Amino acid sequence: MSWSHLAKCSLAMLWIFLSIQASCWAQHERDIAFEKTMGDNYVKALNILDNMLLGQDYKMVEESATAILQHVDEVNSLSPSLEPPERQWFQLYVNQLKWNTEQLISFAQEIHKIQQSQQRPPSHTQVLAAQQFGHMITTCVSCHSQFLGALKKRAAP
Ligand code: HEC
Repeated sequence: MSWSHLAKCSLAMLWIFLSIQASCWAQHERDIAFEKTMGDNYVKALNILDNMLLGQDYKMVEESATAILQHVDEVNSLSPSLEPPERQWFQLYVNQLKWNTEQLISFAQEIHKIQQSQQRPPSHTQVLAAQQFGHMITTCVSCHSQFLGALKKRAAP
């Protein structure tokens, strides 16, 4: 084997090594961004719970739910690569999260409007909003129960 051949071979191997490193790094970056988005979902969900239960600040409920809704696209784009049918299941949960969060936002907006008119919101409206919060959290749990551990296991060497 000539020196130039050897040099070419070494360069090719170095290139393959660096590409693998780069794609691992990109995946790692995506995972960190995904976890950050989820962490923020958690903070916002706690904030909603706090305000529904005690603070009764439905403007805050609306704002926190809107932040979760804005994260939906990130959850989609940063989600790990999944093969069908898991890809479709994941997508279904993402769509459910979107739908349930949108409904929660409409309830919060209605209640906030009533509050602004200096009236006390009817208690059943608040109960409906709480039920809708339950639907949203159920969606978080549904997706986690299927994908949380599974993804971590898959990522392990
Ligand atoms: C479509 C699926 C899906 C939905 C819906 C979803 N999550 Fe997650 N979530 C995941 C996955 C997958 C992980 C694990 C990410 C990983 O492997 O690190 C995760 C991780 C998390 C974590 C841990 C983050 C960390 O630092 O490791 C929190 C907290 C979290 N989610 C909160 C929520 C909340 C709150 C909701 C609902 C508002 C929600 N998630 C909805 C898929 C989902």
